[in-house]
Amino acid sequence: MKDFLDLADLSDERLDTVLRLARELEARPVGDALRGRTVGLLFMNPSVRTLASMQAAVTQQGGQTFVVTPGSGSWKMETRSGAVMDGEAAEHVSEAIPVLAQYADLLGVRCFAEGRNLDHDLEDALIHTMARLCPKPFVNLESARAHPCQALADWKTLDDLAIPRKGGRFVLSWAWHPKALPYAVPSSALEMAARRGMDVTVLRPDGFALPAAVMDRAKAIATRSGGSIVETCDRELAMSGAHALYAKSWSSSAFYGQPAEEAALRAPLRNEWCVRESWFKPSLPDARFLHCLPVRRNIKVADEVLDGPRSVVIRQAGNRMHAQKALIIEMLGGNKT
Ligand code: CP
Repeated sequence: MKDFLDLADLSDERLDTVLRLARELEARPVGDALRGRTVGLLFMNPSVRTLASMQAAVTQQGGQTFVVTPGSGSWKMETRSGAVMDGEAAEHVSEAIPVLAQYADLLGVRCFAEGRNLDHDLEDALIHTMARLCPKPFVNLESARAHPCQALADWKTLDDLAIPRKGGRFVLSWAWHPKALPYAVPSSALEMAARRGMDVTVLRPDGFALPAAVMDRAKAIATRSGGSIVETCDRELAMSGAHALYAKSWSSSAFYGQPAEEAALRAPLRNEWCVRESWFKPSLPDARFLHCLPVRRNIKVADEVLDGPRSVVIRQAGNRMHAQKALIIEMLGGNKT
């Protein structure tokens, strides 16, 4: 496997290998599996967890990283094909990616959705183009439609908590956010839970159905794995018997790229769609709360949930490091003993 652009790039066998190795590395984090290896990290957008966890993962296994953040200490970069570069961007990814690849054994790239054209963003063409430009192994650190490293960590988190694969009930819930957000995390979380064979419910208000392309893909995965996916606006129905609630905000697909119209649709949902303890009935004392972070407290999720015993957001973030460490070692064929 040269590229990890999507969870689907890992066969079932390889996914099991990465998850098993991630568990081993959690118990024994320091080693020399990446000694002499260099991982390049290109962040076109901000990050806390992805950047820090990639650096920590590589360093703890004896490797090194370099980080390029276009526009803050590095040249601004153009990504559009055929662009006339008379604006602020001094460099094009067409040169930057193969140049950086010469300095690294593996390149990780973050490049978010443009947020203008839904079909274009859901095609996720840019991350695939960048991977093709890279002659070395390439890892998607969040693109327009996928955040597969987050999905790997989320899978491990559910395993850690002994939340069942088959028969586990996973709720992916929309939550209010002041901005229209992309589909990368909800799409990858949905595919992760579907591939685990879970019974998945997408809970969201009217007007915020996930795009058909996202749902259809996840439903096909669920069919293969023996899981299921339904969508509802009914919170009580969605939360019935839930093992895990994964909160995330996403844009209305009807008004994608139209911020004023989208904001008007979202505005009245502010209070009702902040996750609170009352969402979890007394019948769900053990249901867990997941979020990829960063999270806006008391906007998307109330303190009482984030600070309470059902929240596993810190464990999730910790698993980013274990999962990515395992992934990189697997991709680079490092010494695993
Ligand atoms: N969850 C996640 O990717 O966090 P960052 O945006 O901080 O990297």
